[in-house]
Amino acid sequence: MAEDISVPVSADKQAKYESLLPQISALIGHETDLVANLANVSAALQMAFSFLWVGFYLKKENELVLGPFQGPVACTRIAFGKGVCGASYTQKETIVVPDVEAFPGHIACSSASRSEIVVPVIKNGKVEMVLDIDSVELNTFDEVDKKYLEQLAEAIAEKL
Ligand code: SME
Repeated sequence: MAEDISVPVSADKQAKYESLLPQISALIGHETDLVANLANVSAALQMAFSFLWVGFYLKKENELVLGPFQGPVACTRIAFGKGVCGASYTQKETIVVPDVEAFPGHIACSSASRSEIVVPVIKNGKVEMVLDIDSVELNTFDEVDKKYLEQLAEAIAEKL
């Protein structure tokens, strides 16, 4: 049976990530099914931070296709190079978007999204998927989120 995820409610986000990441590692550590693990990672992040949307787009043939997520319904397919997700895929880098309206080509799946971070999951030099997180507030994501979410992406890549 799965253990509940708990993070300090009033802690700053660094403390939250420090508490959350070992719990996520434990959660996915003994499970080999990718969909199950991505679903639980999405849920754990969304519950800990109350983000608008947390989920994965997986590389399938020549595009990114929606995978497990938490939040409002979202676009199902994103071309390489398009939107923040497609740009992160092509550039093989995390992209922090303080204001989605200022990002050329941003794909608005939800009108409530104001800022966003997309982190590539890279295995053997290839991007296999991206982790996408949306916030209802501007300027939600910074170097702290980038650092910890990239650690999380490495933990996911190790399971591939
Ligand atoms: N905003 C993303 C699309 C995915 S949704 O945010 C869930 C983008 O521009 O790639």
